[in-house]
Amino acid sequence: MNQTAQLLNQARDAVEGTTTLDELDAVRVKYLGRKGLLTVRLKELGGLSADERPAAGQIINEAKQALTAAIKTRRNVLEKERIQATLQADGLDVSLPGRGHVSGTLHPVTRTLRRMLRIFAHAGFEVHTGPEVEDEYYNFTALNIPKDHPARAMHDTFYLESGLLLRTHTSPVQIRAMEKHGVPIRLIAPGRAYRCDSDLTHTPMFTQVEVLTVDRGISFANLKSFTYEFLSSFFEREVELRFRPSYFPFTEPSAEVDVLSESGRWLEILGCGMVHPKVLKNVGVDPEEYTGYALGFGVERLAMLRYGVDDLRLFFENDIRFLEQFR
Ligand code: DAH
Repeated sequence: MNQTAQLLNQARDAVEGTTTLDELDAVRVKYLGRKGLLTVRLKELGGLSADERPAAGQIINEAKQALTAAIKTRRNVLEKERIQATLQADGLDVSLPGRGHVSGTLHPVTRTLRRMLRIFAHAGFEVHTGPEVEDEYYNFTALNIPKDHPARAMHDTFYLESGLLLRTHTSPVQIRAMEKHGVPIRLIAPGRAYRCDSDLTHTPMFTQVEVLTVDRGISFANLKSFTYEFLSSFFEREVELRFRPSYFPFTEPSAEVDVLSESGRWLEILGCGMVHPKVLKNVGVDPEEYTGYALGFGVERLAMLRYGVDDLRLFFENDIRFLEQFR
């Protein structure tokens, strides 16, 4: 009996001393396996007298149960330790604070464009679009810029191998829209245009909004008042404008418009004019009956003024530090 108690104590110490599940299993086998020290003792009962056997058997069985329970408890502890160790090794620290999230923001050019479209929508203009890959007819010829005309040199054009080109302005949408819908018409055409050009105020890709109104009795006075009203609404102040006489093949007379920035500098933001009679004829409209005005806005130019940005290229560099400021 004493020996059994001793064996049990010894086994318990061994269980407590294990540090891995493998060690624990080795202890189990050593005491409770088929040839384990306690198991063997049961087999030795045969050497006792019939009187002694039941009591001795009971003690050994109780010892086996106690040891089994101790092993189970130890196994739970070791399993938890193992999970903990795995988590640690995988570098997962659930107590670390989260990274949180940073909300995105609309690009300043998109915001400017949307602002423009909202104002135009109030004024009753319909939105039209055209392809960015154009042909020479729509981009040049129909707009009274014939082959070899010096005005083509103003547009440093990207030509494609197919003979098509990247439109150099949104004006071809004027032609497409009038061909399709006739006149009277009142439209805006927002979109991208492309030119081989790059400096502080030019990028190879830029955004324009084309405006076209054709109806009976439209005059330059309508063009001027529209321009003042639109820009005052856009900048939320009475704007000061400078209409400079200019030349575009598709308008006559033509002007370029500068706006006085809040820092006191003039910045060109649009070209405009009365639709050239030849352009109207090209789409089958009688210029004796109808007249119209047209404008081409540089959207990035308006964004520069509105947000006080002095280098247009910043809009396309996608520097997050720049873009973050427009949240
Ligand atoms: N298409 C011209 C450009 O990109 C801008 C322009 C000027 C558009 C006069 C017009 C206009 O509609 O009437 O340089």
